[in-house]
Amino acid sequence: MLSAQNPNPSPHTGVSNYVSRYPADWPIDGPIDLQVHDLPHASSTIEWWYQNTHLTSNKGCNFSLFASFFRIAIDRDEETQAYKYAHSITWALCDADNKAYYMDSVVDRIAPVEGLKMIERGHDTTDKLLLKALKEVLVKGNVPLPDRLMEEDAIVDNENLHLQYGVNQYEKLANGNYKLRLHNAEKAIHCELEFTPLVHPVRHGDNGVVVGTGGEDMFYYFIPECEVNGSIVVDNIRHDVEGSGWYDHEFGKPADDAGEKIEVNLMHDIAWNWISLQASNGQQISVYDLFDNNDGMKSRGRWAVVINEEGISKSIKEFVFQPKTNWTSSRTFTSYPVNWLLQIPELGIDLEVEAAFPHQEFVTIISKPAFWEGRVHAKGMFGTEAVTGLGFIERSGFANVEKLEDFFKAVTKQTRKSVEALLPIQPTDEQFARLVASDKNHHFLDGLDKEQYIKQIITPIREIIDRGGKCWRSYAAIACIDVVGGNSQPYMNWLVWPELLHTGSLIIDDVQDKSEIRRGGPSCHIAHGEAIAINAGNACYFLGQLLLLDDALSVDIKLKAYQIYFETMRAAHAGQAMDISSFYHLMPGIVESGDNRNLEKKILAVHRLKSAVPASMLAQLGAIKGKAAQPQIDGLGNFFEALGLAFQIIDDVLNLRGFKGDLKDKGEDITAGKITMPVAKAMGLLAHSDREWLWQEVSSKPSEKERIAEVITLLEKCGAIDACEQQAEYLIEDAWKKLDVLIPDNDVKIRLRAFGWYVLRRHY
Ligand code: IPE
Ligand code: MG
Ligand code: MG
Repeated sequence: MLSAQNPNPSPHTGVSNYVSRYPADWPIDGPIDLQVHDLPHASSTIEWWYQNTHLTSNKGCNFSLFASFFRIAIDRDEETQAYKYAHSITWALCDADNKAYYMDSVVDRIAPVEGLKMIERGHDTTDKLLLKALKEVLVKGNVPLPDRLMEEDAIVDNENLHLQYGVNQYEKLANGNYKLRLHNAEKAIHCELEFTPLVHPVRHGDNGVVVGTGGEDMFYYFIPECEVNGSIVVDNIRHDVEGSGWYDHEFGKPADDAGEKIEVNLMHDIAWNWISLQASNGQQISVYDLFDNNDGMKSRGRWAVVINEEGISKSIKEFVFQPKTNWTSSRTFTSYPVNWLLQIPELGIDLEVEAAFPHQEFVTIISKPAFWEGRVHAKGMFGTEAVTGLGFIERSGFANVEKLEDFFKAVTKQTRKSVEALLPIQPTDEQFARLVASDKNHHFLDGLDKEQYIKQIITPIREIIDRGGKCWRSYAAIACIDVVGGNSQPYMNWLVWPELLHTGSLIIDDVQDKSEIRRGGPSCHIAHGEAIAINAGNACYFLGQLLLLDDALSVDIKLKAYQIYFETMRAAHAGQAMDISSFYHLMPGIVESGDNRNLEKKILAVHRLKSAVPASMLAQLGAIKGKAAQPQIDGLGNFFEALGLAFQIIDDVLNLRGFKGDLKDKGEDITAGKITMPVAKAMGLLAHSDREWLWQEVSSKPSEKERIAEVITLLEKCGAIDACEQQAEYLIEDAWKKLDVLIPDNDVKIRLRAFGWYVLRRHY
C-alpha cells in the first residue's frame, strides 16, 4: 500500500532514505522563499502540504479542520528516470459543538496496483492473514473504506503551487494567499477556505531539518498564523466561517539512488506526538517528539518552537509533552491519550491540553491501522499570564495493534474493563443496588447482605472470567456494528455481555460434565460447591440485561436485543440437552452400517446450538445496531454461524493433533469417550472391523497414552481429521463468499476475514 512505501506518512514526520548532504533545492542556508519552496521539490521522494484551522461561523458554530496533501515517489520512469508518484489526501472536519469527527482519506488511483506490488515484495510487516485479506480487496481494484480512491489522476503543478487531488485542491493565489478546497460527496461536506499568512515561515527541527530514525532527513517549515475565511457545508447547512490557520510544508530527500529502485526503509518504525497550538496571548507553539518503535521507544529527535507576536521564533529542546489519560477506540482497539501536559520551563509555559472530544481517530491504511489527530483545548500559564489555546495534536505509531494476536489481547483488555464496570469485584453500595434491584424496587435490598452477594455470586463468576479467554464472541458483537458502517463506540461496554453468557454456560457445563478444571484452575463447583456454581452460573445469564437499562438506547434496539437473547438461550439449552444425552445409543447401528450421515448431522446440531447460534445472534445484534440492511444482517449471522461451527470442529481436531504440537494432554476427548466429528467421520471411512475396533476403544475411555495414540493414528490414517479440517474451511469460505458481496470493502471487513482464517489455525 501507500503505507508500505512510507509506513507512516504523517504530516509531521517522514521516512525516506538516508542522505549525507542536503539537496540543492532545500533552503538550508538562504531564506525560505515561499515562491520557490512552496513548490514541489524535485529531489524529494516524500513531500506534504498540511493545513489546519479553527473556525467560528457567523452563527457562532465552532469547527476545526486539518488537511494533508501527500506526494510519495514510488518508482522511476524507465526511460527518463524521473520519479513516478502516488498521491493521497487525508483530512478531517471536527464539529466541536456536536462532537462530530468527519474524516476522509482519498488515495491515488494506482494504490490497489502498487499495494499489491508491495505485498508481493513482502516488505510489509503487518500480520500475514490481514495482508492476505487486504490482498483480496486490492485484487478487486478497491481500497478498503474508509480510504477511497481518487476519481481522477492527481495533478501537481511545478510552476505555481497547485495541487489538484481529484475534487480536493490546495492552491497558491497571485496575492500570496492559499486556497483550500475540500469536498466529500458521500458525507456531503464541502469546505472552501482562504488562508492569509500573517507571519513569515518558521523553521522546525534543527534549522529546518528533522532527522528520522534511520538518518532519514526532512525539511520542515511552517506558517503558524494565518487568517482564514470561507465557508463550510455540513449537514446541508452552509456556515460562513472565519478563524485562524496554520500551514506546514515538509519534504524529504532520499540517498542518491539514480537508476535504482526506490525502496523506502520499512524497518524504521517511528512513533510521534505533535502539536500545533495557537495561544490566546498571540503566540504559537509547535512541538514534535519522535520515538523509535523498534528501539524501546528511544527518543529520535524532539523540538519545541515558540513564535512570539512579532513572528520571531525560538527553538527549545527542554520541554515536557506528556500524555495523561487514555481513550480506546472500539474500531481499532488502539488507545490514545486525550489529556496532555505541555511544559516549556524556559518560557514559563505550563499547559493542560485536552481533546475537544476523544473520538478523533483517523482510520487509514496509509498509517495502519489509524492515528489520532484532533482539535485540542489548552489552559494554563504562559510566563506570568494565564492563557487558553486552540490546537491540533497528532499521535501516531504508538503500540499499534496490527497483529491479530495483539488485537485480541487489546480486545480482551477492554472486555475485562467492561466486566469490572458491570460486575465489580468490590461494588459500591450503589453498584450493588444496581446489580440486584432497580430504582423502583429499591426495597429488594432490604435485609440483603452485600458481602454475601459478593461471596456467592461475584467472586465465583469473576474467578472464571478473570482467568482469561480470548473474548472473540465479544469482538464479533462489536465488529458487526462497524463493518456495516455503524459506530460501535457507544457500545464498548457491551463487550461484557457475550463474556457473561459464555462464562455462565461454562460454569453450568462443568457441573454437568463433572469437569474439575476450567481455564487452568479449579472449576467453579470444585472451588465453591455445586449449589453456588449452579446459582452463579445462572446469574451470569441475567446480568447482561443491565446494559439494556440504558436510556440512550432506542426502544427498537432494546426489543431486538431481548428477542435475540432469549432465542439464543432457548437454542443453546436445546443443544446442551442433546450434548448431555450424547449419541452412544446410535453407535451400534452406525458401526454396523458405516452410515454416519445422521451422526454428523447431530454433532453439527450440537455445535450449532451451543456455539454457533450464540456467535451468530451476537453478530446479528451488532449488525442491527449498525443499522444494517436485512441481507447484511443475515449474511453476518450466517458467517458467524459458520465460524462457530468451524471453531468447534477445529477444536476437536486440535484435541487430537495438539495445539502447536505442545499440548500436554493430547486426546483428552478420547479419554472422555466423546463422539467428536473426527470419530463420526471415521465411521464413514473405515472398514467394518476398524469401525468396531475404534468404537470399542473410544467407548472404553482409555487413559493409557499408547492406546490413545493408536486411536489418533487410525483417525489420521483414514483421513477423518483432514476431512474435518476441510469441512471447517469449506464452511468459512462458503459463508464468506455469500457475505463478501453484501458488505462494502472496509477495514473491519478485512479484520473479520483474517479472523475467519485465524480461527482455522489457532486455538482460543
Ligand atoms: C462447554 O461445552 C461450552 C458450552 C457451550 C456449554 P463442552 O462441554 O463441549 O466443552 P468443554 O470441554 O467443557 O469446554
Ligand atoms: Mg464440558
Ligand atoms: Mg458439555
